[in-house]
Amino acid sequence: MKNNPLPRLDTSEEIRQRILPFCRLHPGGSWIDPAGRHKVACVDAADTNAILELMDGEKADVVIHDPPYNLVAFEERELGEYIRWCKQWVNNTIAVLKSDSSFYVWLGADQRNGFQPLPDFMMMMRQTQLRPRSFITMRNQRGFGTQKNWMAVRQELLYYIKGEPGFNIEAEYTDIPKILRGYYKDVGGKTTENFERSKSENIRAGNVWVDIQQVFYRMEENVSGCYAQKPLKCIERIIKASAPKNEHALVVDFFAHSGTTLLAAELNKRRCFTADVDPIFCEIAIRRLEHFRETGKLGWQNGHPFEREFPEFNAERSTDSTERQVEAQLQPTMF
Ligand SMILES: C[S@@+](CC[C@H](N)C(=O)[O-])C[C@H]1O[C@@H](n2cnc3c(N)ncnc32)[C@H](O)[C@@H]1O
Repeated sequence: MKNNPLPRLDTSEEIRQRILPFCRLHPGGSWIDPAGRHKVACVDAADTNAILELMDGEKADVVIHDPPYNLVAFEERELGEYIRWCKQWVNNTIAVLKSDSSFYVWLGADQRNGFQPLPDFMMMMRQTQLRPRSFITMRNQRGFGTQKNWMAVRQELLYYIKGEPGFNIEAEYTDIPKILRGYYKDVGGKTTENFERSKSENIRAGNVWVDIQQVFYRMEENVSGCYAQKPLKCIERIIKASAPKNEHALVVDFFAHSGTTLLAAELNKRRCFTADVDPIFCEIAIRRLEHFRETGKLGWQNGHPFEREFPEFNAERSTDSTERQVEAQLQPTMF
């Protein structure tokens, strides 16, 4: 099979310059889905006016944000500055939440630097009107670390609510079959085991998710060039649990990147308004949705979103590119 991936787009300035002319959105611009469901805007999440313009008076049922985590050397800012920036987009989020709604945010903790910014973000969130609901950990298959420490495989997800949003547990079963035995309880004079009492053959998702495959280059949903892509399965899980089950329900994500939330909303028949400050990631998110509608495919696996313009992109590069691509696809574990 032809292998034609893009390298990480955040660190490949030369390739960015070649791709930019093919991006439909310029800063401040937006794309309206011709099918009338979704929107993508090229805006800064911290820019209140731009966010209000994107929302155009509509309010979100569920927000799923995955901001930069302030962990990677080249993008790390002074912690106070990072938290002030988070406060701005959190305030913008609160301004566009429905009275009964859910707010999910992925964040990292740097074990080499006081576990920042996770605890600082949690403290900042205490000053808002949102109420904490759960603290979820998702397990990556691959991690980073040395022989002298536990391998780092966790991704943290905070869940807050405003008002009393619904929560659909029916949708919330993993594909892990019940093989373990649970605890016992007497029900109507009969001793029953907890798995016997529950409705499904599978284990219900708790707040430690061990059943989700991290995205890597062999998966159909892979979007090469994207360095921090979340698996569709975890975003679909959030949508199924927390977005009302109707096609008017609105999911919002200010940090689109590979467009995972946008595609998950499409797959689950909800609407999505999403943004990214980078025109290249806005274009990738739009193309990923279009590609799915045209082909039924979730990503590009061995190809990339700009194959139309650069069909043999990889041939221009040195022979170790596949190896470097594998490295690139493992980068999400750094967050
Ligand atoms: C961790 S990635 C999101 C990954 C996404 N959940 C996915 O599955 O593809 C963060 C994204 O936020 C974008 N970003 C960074 N600063 C931003 C800002 N101020 N406003 C909007 N987007 C921003 C980056 O360009 C990057 O694409």
